[in-house]
Amino acid sequence: MSIRDLRSSTVSVNLFTFCVFLSCFPGFILSAIVTLDSIVIYNTHELIKAVKPKVYFQCIGGNKTNFPDVKEKNVRYNFNGEESWQPLTEFSGKKCKRCGLYEADTFKPDDKFDEWELCPSDFNASDGKYVRFKNKEFNITFWCPKCVPDIPASSSTTAPDKEEKEKGMHVVLILLIVVAVLAVCIVVGFAAYKYWQKKKREQDQARFLKLFEDGDDIEDEMGLDHII
Ligand SMILES: *[C@@H]1O[C@H](CO)[C@@H](O)[C@H](O)[C@H]1NC(C)=O
Ligand SMILES: *[C@@H]1O[C@H](CO)[C@@H](O)[C@H](O)[C@H]1NC(C)=O
Repeated sequence: MSIRDLRSSTVSVNLFTFCVFLSCFPGFILSAIVTLDSIVIYNTHELIKAVKPKVYFQCIGGNKTNFPDVKEKNVRYNFNGEESWQPLTEFSGKKCKRCGLYEADTFKPDDKFDEWELCPSDFNASDGKYVRFKNKEFNITFWCPKCVPDIPASSSTTAPDKEEKEKGMHVVLILLIVVAVLAVCIVVGFAAYKYWQKKKREQDQARFLKLFEDGDDIEDEMGLDHII
């Protein structure tokens, strides 16, 4: 029986560890990369029209991504997201990034096609694409499949769900701790009881033997007396 107790307490301890492990990941942590899907430029900012533009994308605090293929106006360039210079940037969380499309210049400051706030929430189409168009400048399509929310429901209905789930998790955790502690108490208590029983039996035996020996002595004495 004590072995079964021990086994059940081991199981609860394992479950407890598992729950602690799970509670470290309370929700889905958004980390999503943004790639360039396609681009058309309608304008180059070069004074000498023969000079090919050097178009690049950059977010504040991020790396500069050159688009080596984009050289001609009014031509659509399509990409598959696996090019050597992809991805453009990465979101970690729901926070927006200030990004822009620029044109590098050698002798004067870089020209700006546009600069704006790029947000994970922009990618609300089911295909994970976001089109940004600026008249006479560009039409650019970004792709971020992981930015698309899993459930199309509004976030106000999903937030309490998550909270409730977390609360439930805590209750389960507390219950498991209580069960684990109880199991350990039962095992220890049972072992102590067994030990006490054994000790008592030994003491009883010793007392009985002593009584028996004493009785022998008395009998011997009496026997001797009788003979004498
Ligand atoms: C920027 O470039 C460096 C080196 O190429 C790379 O390690 C880093 O991850 C890049 N950062 C972003 C945000 O892409
Ligand atoms: C911009 O490009 C997308 C596809 O990449 C297209 O659906 C959209 O109509 C274009 N917008 C304009 C104004 O050309």
